[in-house]
Amino acid sequence: MAVNETVKYGIIGVGMMGREHLINLHHLRTQGVVVVCIADPYLPSQQLALGLAQSFDWPLKVFSGHQELLDSGLCDVVVVSSPNMTHYQILMDILNHPKPHHVLVEKPLCTTIADCRKVVNAARKRPDMLVQVGLEYRYMPPVAKLIEIVKGGTLGRVKMVAIREHRFPFLVKVNNWNRFNSNTGGTLVEKCCHFFDLMRLFAGANPVRMMASGAMDVNHKDEIYDGKVPDVIDNAYVVVEFDNGARGMLDLCMFAEGSKNEQEISVVGHTGKGEAFVPESIVRFGSRMEGRDGVQTLKAENQLIKLVTLFFSVPAPTSCLWLAFRFDPKLPYFSRYEGLHHGSSYLEHLNFLSAIRVKGAKTPAVDLNDGLISVAMGVAAQLSIEKGRFVYIEEVLGEHNC
Ligand SMILES: NC(=O)c1ccc[n+]([C@@H]2O[C@H](COP(=O)([O-])OP(=O)(O)OC[C@H]3O[C@@H](n4cnc5c(N)ncnc54)[C@H](O)[C@@H]3O)[C@@H](O)[C@H]2O)c1
Repeated sequence: MAVNETVKYGIIGVGMMGREHLINLHHLRTQGVVVVCIADPYLPSQQLALGLAQSFDWPLKVFSGHQELLDSGLCDVVVVSSPNMTHYQILMDILNHPKPHHVLVEKPLCTTIADCRKVVNAARKRPDMLVQVGLEYRYMPPVAKLIEIVKGGTLGRVKMVAIREHRFPFLVKVNNWNRFNSNTGGTLVEKCCHFFDLMRLFAGANPVRMMASGAMDVNHKDEIYDGKVPDVIDNAYVVVEFDNGARGMLDLCMFAEGSKNEQEISVVGHTGKGEAFVPESIVRFGSRMEGRDGVQTLKAENQLIKLVTLFFSVPAPTSCLWLAFRFDPKLPYFSRYEGLHHGSSYLEHLNFLSAIRVKGAKTPAVDLNDGLISVAMGVAAQLSIEKGRFVYIEEVLGEHNC
C-alpha cells in the first residue's frame, strides 16, 4: 500500500472499545485514515458509533453482522473489538474471506488455546494479510520507557518482573458478557494476558510453569443473570518461571479503588532495578552500584505536553516562530489522543498503520504468537487455581497441539 494512499477501516463491535478505536482513528485522519463501515448487532451501540462518526463528518455504512461487512468489500483493514468469545469465528471468517483484510484484533486473541491455534494456522495460509493483537500496554508511555531501559541493558540480565494491578471491578458490558468465564476465558486470560505479555517481553524469555491462587471474593456476588451468578475471579497471585531462569509475579486485585496507581511494574536485573507507575506516568531506575541516592525519576510525558512545555519555556516572539515551525498538524504528535488507555491505543494504531503501509518490510509489533502465548499463560494460571498445583505451559499447549 502506497504511503499516501487512504487506508479504509471497518470496525466489528462498536461497544466501549470499538468506539474508542473509532475516536483514535479519527485522531489519525491526517495520516490518511478513514473509518467507512461498522458491524454490530446491538442497535444502541450502532447509534452511539453513528453519532460519533457524524460529528467527525465520516459517513458510515452500518451492518449488523461481520460477514456482511466483509462481503461489502468496503474496507482494507478491520478492527475486531467484539466480545472475547466472538473473536474466533470472526477471525476465521476474515482469514477465509477471498478479499484480504489486515486485522487488529482486541485481546485476548481467543478464549481458548485450541481456538488460538486454529487462527494461527489459518493466518499462515494468508501471507497477504497482517494480523496484530491488541496487547496495547506495551505502548503506554511509562511502560514503553521501562521497556527501552530494560532492552538497553541498563539493568543487566533480568531476573525478576513483578506486576501489580490494583483497580476497580469489571465494568458493565453489553449483555453482561464479561461476567462469565465461558465468555471471557477467565479473568487471568481476559485481563491479565496484557501483563503476561509484558512479563515475557521484560524477561526476554518464554514461560515454563505457573502457580496461582485466586478467587471471586468481593465483587459480583449479588449479581444474577438468567439465574446464574458470575464466576469471574476478582483477585489472584500468580508466580511464573521462565526458561532463562527469570521469575515473574502478578498481584491482581479488582476491589482496590483506593489505590494511587492502577499498575506498578518492577523489573530487577543483576545490576539494577527499574519501575513504572500508571497512571502517574513515572519511571524510576537505579543501579546496585550507585544505590538509593543514584535512583533517577522520569516523567513519561505525552509528546504534545512536552512540546507545549518547551513552547512556554522560550521568550514570546521566538516561541511564536518556533510554534509556526514545529506544530505541523500533519505530524502524529499534534493530535495524539490519550483516550481511555493513556495514549496506548493511539500509538498502537500508529504502529499498525506503519506496518500496513510498508507491508512485507515490517511485521506487526504484537503478532499471533504473542497473542497465543499470553492466552496460554492465562489458561495455565486459571488451571493452577483449579488444581492447586504448578501447571506447565507444555501441559496446556501440548494438549491443544494441532
Ligand atoms: N485493550 C484493552 O485494554 C481493552 C479494554 C477494554 C476491552 N477490550 C476488549 O475489547 C473487546 C470489546 O470489549 P468492550 O469493552 O467494548 O465490550 P462492550 O460490551 O462494551 O462492546 C462489545 C460490542 O460488541 C458487540 N457484539 C457482540 N457480538 C458481536 C458480533 N458477533 N459481531 C459484532 N459485534 C458484536 C456488542 O453488541 C457490543 O456493542 C473485548 O475483546 C475486550 O476484551 C480491550
